[in-house]
Parts: sequence; C-alpha cells; structure tokens
Amino acid sequence: MNKTQRPIYLDHSATTPVDPRVVQAMAPYWSDAFGNASSTHTWGEDAATALERARQTAADVLGCRPTELSFTGSGTEADNLALRGAAWAARQTGRGNHLITTPVEHHAVGHTVEQLHDLFGFEVTLVPVDQYGQVDPDDVRRAIRPDTLLVSVMMANNEVGTVQPLVKIGRICQEHGVLFHTDAIQAAGRLPLELDDLHVDLTALSAHKFYGPKGVGLLYVRRNTPFVPAITGGGHERGRRPGTVNVAGAVGLATALRLAEEERVDAGHRLRALRDRLIAGVLDAVPETQLTGHPRQRLCHHASFAFRNVEGTSLVIALNLEGIAASSGAACSEGEAEPSFVLQAMGFTPDWGIGALRFSLGRSNTEADVDAVIEALPPIVERLRGED
Ligand SMILES: Cc1ncc(COP(=O)(O)O)c(C=O)c1O
Repeated sequence: MNKTQRPIYLDHSATTPVDPRVVQAMAPYWSDAFGNASSTHTWGEDAATALERARQTAADVLGCRPTELSFTGSGTEADNLALRGAAWAARQTGRGNHLITTPVEHHAVGHTVEQLHDLFGFEVTLVPVDQYGQVDPDDVRRAIRPDTLLVSVMMANNEVGTVQPLVKIGRICQEHGVLFHTDAIQAAGRLPLELDDLHVDLTALSAHKFYGPKGVGLLYVRRNTPFVPAITGGGHERGRRPGTVNVAGAVGLATALRLAEEERVDAGHRLRALRDRLIAGVLDAVPETQLTGHPRQRLCHHASFAFRNVEGTSLVIALNLEGIAASSGAACSEGEAEPSFVLQAMGFTPDWGIGALRFSLGRSNTEADVDAVIEALPPIVERLRGED
C-alpha cells in the first residue's frame, strides 16, 4: 500500500464516481416516476416533463436550443451517430464525399471514420499532429477540398490531455461551409463548452466523465444540419436516437453537467495545482521520462508521461498493487501490449511509445495523494527496467 495507507484513484479520465447530488436527483425516476416518456398518460407525462427539464438544463450549459440535443446510450454512440448522421446525409444529397480528421482521435471517432471509408467509400484525410499532439489549423485549411463535408477534431485528447485550437479550426470550417464535429467527452466540466463560441455543428458528451452515470451520452446537432439517423426505430429524440429514453440517466447527465459547469473554474484551479505538482515531481524523480501532450494547453486534471523502455501496462499493474489507480493510455485499449497509437502519431519511437502512463486527477485527490505517487513510482520504474 502507498504511504497514505488508503487507495488513491487517479483515473478520472476513464470514469468518475457518481456525485451523491446526482444520485439523489436521479432517485425518483427508477421506481416512482418510472413512466415511458412517450406515453400519453400521467406516468408518461411526468417522465416527459423530467426529460425536457433535463434537456433544458443541458442546453443552458451548452448555450444551445434544447431541440438540438438528444440523449444517447453512451459517448461512443453520440460520436457514431454524429459522424454517420452527417456523412450519410451528405451522401443522400450528393453534398460531399470527403472527411478530415486526426490520427489521435478516440476509437469512437477513429473507427467510425475508418468504417465510413472501408464500407461506404468516403475519402478520408488525416491531418498530422505535432510532438504535443496538436493540430495546426492551417493544415486543416489546406486539407479542405470542394467535396469535403465534415471535419472532426477532438476538443481534448483522452490519452495525453492536449487541448486543440478548436476556435480557429471551427472558424475555418465555417468559412468553407464545412460541418465541424468535435468529441468533447474529455472536456466537459474542464473546459468552457459554449458551442456557438466554438463554431461547432455536432458534438458528443458522456455523463460518466463528469460525475454522472455510465451509459448516458448527449448528442448535439446544430439546427438545420443535414442528418440521417444511424439507428432507426420510433421517433424518440426527434428521430435522431430512437429507443425508449433513459429518463433517470438523462436527469443524471443534466444534473452532473450543471454541477460540473458551476464548479468548473474553482475545481480547475485546484486540480491544475495538483497536476503541476505531480508533473514536476515525476519528471524530477524518474530518469528517462517525458511529459506527453502539451505542457500548457492541456486538461487541468491530466498528467501523462512516457517512460523509456518500460511497459505502461506493467506500471499500471505495479501501481495497482500499491493501491494507486492509473491508466496506460486510453482506458478502452487497456490490455493491448502495443505502443500507444497516439504517441506514435506524435512521433514517439516504440521504446518510448510502450511506456505511456496517465494519471487523471479528480475531486477526491489531495496533495498527499500526489506525493504518495511521486514516492511510489521511481522504485517501480527502476525494478521493471531492471527485469528486461
Ligand atoms: C475522447 C473520448 N471519446 C469517446 C469516449 C467514449 O465514451 P463512452 O465511454 O461514453 O462510450 C471516451 C471514453 O473514454 C473518450 O475519452
């Protein structure tokens, strides 16, 4: 066990605990107000009222119309619906066949774009990223063609925490009449999310990343954006995401989003100080270590590293034995013993790329937690390097 003698959870980019205030807000919608929000009787009306109140709350945070929002079954689902929805609509009207994205997107975007290419014949351009994982907006401008229908660039990277120059990219898309999608799943509660300021047409959020429940996402589609639903069924959620809506989940997402936004600035100051203490401590204590991602334009809670000649997955296992939860990169690719694709795209060679480790701080973390990690990590790295 680490020196705090209690478990230290430092994997808030993978998921967060549900805020007790969120649990309380959701409570009535399991067994009491359990109606189907599409039913016309009182039970249904009560559920529909709660659902529309949740939608309005989320719309207030995002600065959009409630009608532009649809609740989904996950962040992944929201990204899938956004990309296929825009691409298929363009196919239907002959408005374009070309997509632009980056090599560092989460698989929710990356694999969807790949499928649009492989199965549906869309052409794809990947704009490169620099050594910090950042896109140059001028590269996006240069990649735009007359048949480009959509650009997708994530707001902040899950693995290395880098924040993208979104406003500039959004403006370029607007100038060229190209749709702009951003995966904002790591950004909610950590960066401002006023969608109009960002010139975003489509975006995705996921409640469990900001102290809400798992299995609930949010899809934003700017009004008048051509959209073909990739899920078909009843007309729920304005036909964009058919399927009986998870009312408790929607209430949970909206409550969590409101709280995260209200507390964002104060939480940001606190987490940034902890993050910087962790980064400085680790770089100082462990030889042959690099910070990955942008040194300043990075998420306030996110500290990620590459350790030369040691496997990130082995580090995660060893830290877990000390009662410390971290991640060796994207949570969803945990278990793959390959170098991180994100670090490869950023130019890291395999001897560094296999050694990706991410700590993501959250509400429960303290300076004592950070200091315990700084103490626990160096002997672990030394031991694992010695085993090779
Ligand atoms: C950037 C990003 N996009 C998409 C997802 C997928 O979200 P969900 O877990 O809600 O499907 C994640 C989750 O790790 C993420 O970090």
